[in-house]
Amino acid sequence: MKIAVYPGSFDPVTCGHLDVIKRAAKVFDKLIVGVLVNSEKECAFSSKMRVDMIEKLSLPQNVEVISFDGLLVNFMRENNANILVRGLRAVSDYEYECQIAWINKKLMANCDTFFIPTAEEYAYLSSSIVREIARYNGDLTGLVPEELHSLIKDKLEV
Ligand code: PNS
Repeated sequence: MKIAVYPGSFDPVTCGHLDVIKRAAKVFDKLIVGVLVNSEKECAFSSKMRVDMIEKLSLPQNVEVISFDGLLVNFMRENNANILVRGLRAVSDYEYECQIAWINKKLMANCDTFFIPTAEEYAYLSSSIVREIARYNGDLTGLVPEELHSLIKDKLEV
């Protein structure tokens, strides 16, 4: 059984993340969306909210959302996963993403990372851009799934 983990802060989840989830779920038997609890970056949303927001979306049946703390490779081992999924937006992502892939391979020899190029329409999209737009009550259409708009704005709007 091919079990993959798609890890991230998801602060908040975007249409770009959702696109990666749906495409990766077609390739692997099971896809675990791993929501990092204690990111080095201070998150705008609590880990519970970040998990809840992803669970609100209509996800493929083989997708599970679980939060994790500590090293990603330990989370993968606990869940019998040896495949990592990461989205690549542009060349600028590549160096950082390779670093993560190499470090995880060093820590867990049988861990392999699969990159999915982000859909073209989401190439510019990031959680931080979404937070910025939401803060000033901008239009989140096409950036974040519709069902999360008010939740995000209620939390962030100044
Ligand atoms: O999409 P993000 O928010 O940049 O995701 C970063 C993530 C979650 C992949 C990375 O920070 C991570 O795996 N953190 C857990 C700690 C860890 O295992 N660090 C070593 C590998 S980077």
